Amino acid sequence: MRSVCVDWLLQNGWQERGERQSRRLGEHLCQLLRQAIATQALRPGERLPATRDLMAGLGVSRNTVMHAYEQLRMEGYVVSKVGSGTFVASLTPEVLLKAPRTQRRGMSASLDAQQGVELSERAQFILQHASAADRQWGTFMPGVPDVGAFPRATYARILNRLWRHAQPEMLTYGTNGGAQALKEALADYLHVARGVQCQPEQLLITEGVHQAIDLTVRSLVNPKETVWMEDPGYWGIANVLRMSQDIQLVGRPLDSEGLTLDMEAQVPRLICVTPSHQYPLGTVMSLARRKSLLAYARAHRTWIVEDDYDSEFRFSSRPIPAMQGLEADAPVIYIGTFSKTLFPGLRVGYMVLPRALVAPMQRIHAELYRQGHVVTQLALAELIRDGQYAKHIRRMRVLYGRRREWLQSLIQRYLGPDFLCEPDSQAGLHLVLRLPSDVDDVELVQRLQAQGVLARPLSKYYRTCSVERGLLLGYAATEEATMQSAFFVLLRVLKAMGGGLNRGFLYSKEAG
Ligand SMILES: Cc1ncc(COP(=O)(O)O)c(C=O)c1O
Repeated sequence: MRSVCVDWLLQNGWQERGERQSRRLGEHLCQLLRQAIATQALRPGERLPATRDLMAGLGVSRNTVMHAYEQLRMEGYVVSKVGSGTFVASLTPEVLLKAPRTQRRGMSASLDAQQGVELSERAQFILQHASAADRQWGTFMPGVPDVGAFPRATYARILNRLWRHAQPEMLTYGTNGGAQALKEALADYLHVARGVQCQPEQLLITEGVHQAIDLTVRSLVNPKETVWMEDPGYWGIANVLRMSQDIQLVGRPLDSEGLTLDMEAQVPRLICVTPSHQYPLGTVMSLARRKSLLAYARAHRTWIVEDDYDSEFRFSSRPIPAMQGLEADAPVIYIGTFSKTLFPGLRVGYMVLPRALVAPMQRIHAELYRQGHVVTQLALAELIRDGQYAKHIRRMRVLYGRRREWLQSLIQRYLGPDFLCEPDSQAGLHLVLRLPSDVDDVELVQRLQAQGVLARPLSKYYRTCSVERGLLLGYAATEEATMQSAFFVLLRVLKAMGGGLNRGFLYSKEAG
């Protein structure tokens, strides 16, 4: 008997073989299956037909079906379970993007109609430097945790209970910089896990690091004043800083100890750093450099902005304590996020403010963005209080550590140690694959994207200093088997571009 899925494909545009080449057929099949998943004709968790059923039903070769299933697996639409078959993923790219393809097409048409509108100079500048990817879920996507492993049932139970008894105070605008229960839970957690010294009143709950940086620059920097950030550094922070104020943004080069100080340069109002795990290279700022930075900030009445975005994930040693806790009353604005420990779509982060900044910044935050998500904040407080948050982090640390090791071994085996970033940080959600300087990493990324592999080019993270070429490969949300097939795609593309072939590139038949 023919399966429902085969019937659906036949009724929704599957064309008989005719003159089509098998590669084209594979793409056609992928496209239809994506559509079936997006429209829920194939539902999350549903089993796809066995290879031989699809071969027989559609009259195609085994290779065509296998290729289509593998492609969909790399894109995150399906998962395969050894011995039981291929299933629709519970979280597909469409669900995560929350916009069905048809709606998005309609939307881009209306965006086109708005061309010619006069944007501010700053907006135009940001648009020229825009780097956020259109797809945020898929093989090797950096900076994204394994959102499929999030303890959904536990969280849903907590949310359900809170919603059943939701008081008006939980549904109106938030007050006092965030729910008291979350501020208390976080103050305790940050003390134990990150060595942060603070009272709950110093916490301000934000919509992630981006909003925290926006608030900081608006509150503390005047037009024309200088802000330092690491070079290379996170373009997202650079864009927020540039959009918020007409500031002088200076990229400071790094050495093996972290951001380098320049005693002669104009004193900055803010110094933005990622001391526990430099983004994107992974360096840990030395104790000596931390002390020098703190001394400089005190002497020049400057604020250090510590972005502690993913420090929970250190695999070979205990997490490096935060700079904020190194000295009492340090001139540090500490910023953290649930984007990496739980999931980015939550859009909840937090700031630990120096005492003098608590009242003004809490007030400015309320004025600028109002406050909300109280129910979410209360649920997060419970997750932390009952130990589920720490348990999830422990589980993910093991998982990500294993995946990192796997990716490292692939790089070692097929490309060699020159392609790895040294010293290895053994931390975070991505690693950097170094490339020879003549390989265009932006072009490489475009070619990879066309094949469903979502790496990011290292050169895009540099501002002023000499640019290094490489790829940021996220491993946290990619299973080992998928990683291997995607890595082989990467090798093939790299070979086609002539990259690394003259420098001990160990491209083997096995990979090709
Ligand atoms: C260094 C760094 N900070 C912050 C963020 C984003 O934080 P959030 O999602 O809380 O805005 C990222 C995202 O990749 C990042 O790489």
